[in-house]
Parts: sequence; C-alpha cells; structure tokens
Amino acid sequence: MIKKLIDKLNEINKFDRNADNGERSKKLFGLAALYETPNEIIEAAAVVAGKGYEKFDVYTPYPLHGMDDAMGMDKPKVGYVSFIFGLTGMCLALLMIGWMSGIDYPNIIGGKPFFSLPPSIPITFEGTILLTGIATVLGMLVLFNKLPKIDSPLNDTDFMRNVSSDKYGIVIQTDDDLFTEQDVKNLYLSTGAYNVQEIFYRESNLTTKTPLFDKKFISAIIGTAVVTAVVTYFIVNFVLYSTVPFDWMWVQPRIDSQSPSTFFPNNSGMREPVNGTVARGFLPYEYKGLPDSSVKLLANPLAVSKEVLERGQDRFNIYCSPCHGYFGEGDGRLKGLFPKPPTLHSKKVKEWTDGNIYHVITNGQNVMPSYAEQVSRDDRWAIIHYIRALERSKDASEQDVELAK
Ligand code: HEC
Repeated sequence: MIKKLIDKLNEINKFDRNADNGERSKKLFGLAALYETPNEIIEAAAVVAGKGYEKFDVYTPYPLHGMDDAMGMDKPKVGYVSFIFGLTGMCLALLMIGWMSGIDYPNIIGGKPFFSLPPSIPITFEGTILLTGIATVLGMLVLFNKLPKIDSPLNDTDFMRNVSSDKYGIVIQTDDDLFTEQDVKNLYLSTGAYNVQEIFYRESNLTTKTPLFDKKFISAIIGTAVVTAVVTYFIVNFVLYSTVPFDWMWVQPRIDSQSPSTFFPNNSGMREPVNGTVARGFLPYEYKGLPDSSVKLLANPLAVSKEVLERGQDRFNIYCSPCHGYFGEGDGRLKGLFPKPPTLHSKKVKEWTDGNIYHVITNGQNVMPSYAEQVSRDDRWAIIHYIRALERSKDASEQDVELAK
C-alpha cells in the first residue's frame, strides 16, 4: 500500500507545471498585461484606477508599498465583519450568562446578585474574541479570496507563472462597465506593458457553478477532517496512556489501606508492626499486666520542683480527684456513683514505692481503670510527686512547718 502511495506521489510530481490543465473556452475573462518593474506597475495601476475601471486586480510576486493608494482601494471591509461579529459574540455571552445564572439556575452566593457585570467580563471577553477571530478569518476568505469560488481562470496561465516569479501584472475583467478590448490594450501599451495577453475562461469555470460543492473538494475536506481526528485521537491516547512520564498517578504498585491483598498469606493488605517495634519517643510499659510486686524498682525519673508539683496538682485535680477527692482521702465528688476508693494516706500507699503507684495508674487496679491513655508518662510521675506532697502535708512534722515558712 505504501509503495502504491509513493507511486501516486511521483505521478503528481511529474505533473507538467507549464501545461494548461483544462480546455479553454472562447469566452474572454479579461485582458492581462505584464510589466518589468514595480514602479511601472504602480503607475499603471494608478492610471487604470484613474480612468474609472473597477473590476481589475494587480498581481505581484511580493507586496508593494503604495499599491493600495495607487489602486484607489478603500479601507478593507473585513474590519466591519470583525466588529459586527465581535458585538454579536459579546451580546450572546452576556445573554448566556444572564439566562443561566439569573433565570435557569439562580444560586444565592453570599447574597450577591444573580447577574452582575464584573464577574461576567471574562466569559464576555472570550465570547467576543472567539466570534471576532472566526469571523475575521472567514470574512477574509470570502471577501478577498472569493470563497466559495476556488478556481480562477488565471490559474495555470503563463501570466500567473510570470507574476508569481519576477514580473508584475494587471488584469482588467471583461465584466467591467468600461471594458472594450481596444481601449484596454491601448491603455496597457501607453503605460509601458511589455506583454499584453487575452485570458479566456476555462470550460470548467463556466460549467461548474460553485466548485466549492464539487464532490472531489468536499470529499477531500471530509477526508482530511477524518484523518486528522483519528490521528489526533491515537496520538493523544498514546501520549496520555502508554508513555511512562505521563502515566496516571493512581496507577501505582501500592495497596490502599483496608484493602485486601493476595500477596500476603492472610490476604490482608495492612501489616502489623514487626514484633518489638517501638514508636519514636515512646517507651513501652514493661510491667503491663504483671503483679505490682515486680514494679517496686521502677523509680520516678522526675526531680521534684515547683513546676512538676504544680503540673502534678493540675493533673491530679482533673483525673484523680473525682474519685479520690482533692486531698486523696477517698471522698471524691462521685460519692455513691462509683465504688469508694481507699485513702491514699494509708500506711500501704505511704510505704509503696513510686513504682507501685505508677503501676496502678498505668495498669489500673481492680475497679479502677488504667489512666495510661489520658495521662502521659511524665504527668503520671508528676502526679505521684503531688500525692507524696499530699501525704506529707497530712502528717507534717515540726520541721516541715519550719521548712514551709
Ligand atoms: C473512677 C474513680 C477513680 C479515679 C478517677 C481514680 N481512681 Fe484510683 N482508685 C479507685 C478505686 C475504686 C480504687 C480501689 C481499687 C481497688 O479496689 O483495689 C482505686 C485505687 C487507687 C490506688 C491504690 C490504693 C490502694 O490502697 O490500693 C491508687 C494509688 C490510686 N487509686 C491512684 C489514683 C490516681 C493517681 C488517679 C488519677 C490518675 C486515680 N487513682 C483515679 C477509683 C478511682
């Protein structure tokens, strides 16, 4: 198939550039003249325009300064097209926003009006330039390039070959009111044309009314659109889905939390920490569930200070006093609602090491629950210092009183 295509391309390339493709009719399209220099053509154009001809055009290999004036051309009309369509785009955008946010789906947002101009400016701007842009391009094609005419009798002529290379040409059409062959020829010669030739319509110019609707042309357009769409579709898909850096982020070799995984023997995606793992800044309690005799050696790591005692008092009043009372005498505010705890001033607790009390707070004891979740390690030790202070205050010696002063 590719070989066939290459053959076809070669065939097209062998196309004879100097041949006139298509039969010429006997009907005259216009008279053409060729000039050697840009100055000559500008003068010639000025003379032709000055004589009152209107249906004429000038052909040069590159734009010539001063040609617009010489030809007596008005300002290009495409500006009006742009303006009218720009205005239309603006009105359509405003109508759309007004209808959507004011009538079709009015939403109260912070008490603002349903429709107001400032927030509508961006869309209005977009609508305006969208229609302006499209209309300018289409207007240019229709007004200047004479769409839907796509085939000019000038195509494939010797005249066209010259003016698209290094000569300057002018054509006055026969349908101009002032056109007579003799007058035009004389005019050309008097302005210094080195060649004057007749341009006849091609048969196809006369038979095909609007070549734009020619079957071949239409199918070429549709074919191009389809090919472009298909190619774009595949390229975009290729770029988005199959190349590595543009992979979707959610395509990852990972297991979401709570989701199963056949990779592990128990089919659970989430793993427990390895045995013996210790979280940062956390010391596991070694005596969990053990009898209190084994915790005797646990020592209070905090030194007594005013701050520590105050912190201990604060935490004790919050967490312990509801049951144990503000002074640890077992007369808390939950009297009658919860089993009455023993006093903390008993011989037993007084003789306990700090480790024993720590164990009760951390582990709980009988009906008293563990306070490990609510009270941090350091706060527990601070509470113990405070309990010691309570005990000492209940049973103060002469010396303590002196010290307190
Ligand atoms: C919900 C009420 C309640 C709270 C709050 C509470 N305890 Fe207790 N606590 C008790 C009870 C009841 C006992 C007696 C447990 C038993 O039967 O052995 C007890 C026992 C104790 C004992 C052992 C006393 C002994 O003679 O065996 C200590 C020490 C103790 N609590 C300290 C604390 C500290 C410190 C706090 C604050 C962090 C606290 N408790 C909070 C109810 C409470």
